[in-house]
Amino acid sequence: MLTRWSERFAQRTHGMRSSAVRELLKLTEQPDIISFGGGLPAPEVFPVEKFRESCDKILREEGKKALQYSTTEGYRPLREMIARHAVRFGINIHPDNVLLTSGSQQALDLIGTVFINPGDHLLVERPTYLGALQAWRSYQAEYACVSMDDDGMLTDEVESQLRTGPKFIYALPNFQNPSGVTLSIARRRRLIALADHYGVPILEDDPYGQLRYEGEHLPSLVMLDDERAGANGAPYAGNVIYLSTFSKTLAPGIRLGWIIAPVEVIQRLVQAKQGADLHSSTFAQMVAYDVAKGGFLDQHVKVIRQIYSERRDAMLRALDTCFPDGVTWTRPKGGLFLWLRFPEDMDGADVLKAAVAQKVAFVPGQPFFPDGSGANTARLNFSYCTPDIIEEGIRRLGVVLKSLMKGARVAVGAREVHV
Ligand SMILES: Cc1ncc(COP(=O)(O)O)c(C=O)c1O
Repeated sequence: MLTRWSERFAQRTHGMRSSAVRELLKLTEQPDIISFGGGLPAPEVFPVEKFRESCDKILREEGKKALQYSTTEGYRPLREMIARHAVRFGINIHPDNVLLTSGSQQALDLIGTVFINPGDHLLVERPTYLGALQAWRSYQAEYACVSMDDDGMLTDEVESQLRTGPKFIYALPNFQNPSGVTLSIARRRRLIALADHYGVPILEDDPYGQLRYEGEHLPSLVMLDDERAGANGAPYAGNVIYLSTFSKTLAPGIRLGWIIAPVEVIQRLVQAKQGADLHSSTFAQMVAYDVAKGGFLDQHVKVIRQIYSERRDAMLRALDTCFPDGVTWTRPKGGLFLWLRFPEDMDGADVLKAAVAQKVAFVPGQPFFPDGSGANTARLNFSYCTPDIIEEGIRRLGVVLKSLMKGARVAVGAREVHV
């Protein structure tokens, strides 16, 4: 008898869905479409030649080690490098505070394994990173949402929600995916004080912190928390779990990210990771270390900043010129995305359908809202396309929006006549 597979799937799979964004992006895979949809880095900035040299060197000099199993915590020199980098920013990080993961997406999943019971509620920004919602759906998490303005999440709302006992606060303080918004320094300090007062930890997800194109670098939440705790040189043992990744500074294809957390939390996460994949690729970690060391990564990040800031500027200029009144957008100081708000009665999914017909695509905003709101929003990526393509894509999108908005006014006019 043939297995009825759907009856065998675990209950937790009932809430699992393919990412709405990935499904929509399939629409955009036609070759002549201009896509602002994915969160893709520009492939022309990948340091391919440097990777080739490092691969050769690692295989020649340490090939047997690179192709062997290794420890779950990660390649020690790479953990030491990450800890040194954190110390440069003033945080007392010991390599034992660091766990290498297969991208920070795996870190989000491991956090789910270690922290989330079915029905636990998590405090998230509205909108928030879709990949986190997807990772935690299989742990049957529920969400309480905090609104945002141009200075990031509203910390007064955080305080009222903290009284309801969320498991943790999920925060994306730098150039948030999807909105591009940055949490102000005053609100960072307030968030740290609130976490301390209510005993609720913060999960800080920071893939874009190094990609700032203007203004002063702001201290991370983990750093402010370390300052608050005043650890006197002992390894970090505070209220924040910090995630970052090499995906946006080296290359996403190597699938390497990391977690910084109190040692007690790292030990649990290591057990969870053992069950998931034993360890991240030894070879990828050794190559990434060799590529990054000796100042190459710092130099390379400067190149990326230059290129992405030109692309952001090209998009902002084109939006100013081509978009109709009634549509607004954020002006991010870094990262990969900006955020559109259409008039209240417009649906981003309808705009996308009309846009694809004109060979331009983006991601409608609603999937980034765990409470199902935000239908009149959309995310635009500006890192992937070159400035001339960005200008052409925004011009096309402007035409689509003007015609939809004119159509909406005509429809309203017609209804008025009928009434
Ligand atoms: C906020 C955020 N967290 C995590 C990730 C996952 O990154 P990766 O798994 O490539 O490190 C991304 C990717 O775009 C992201 O934007």
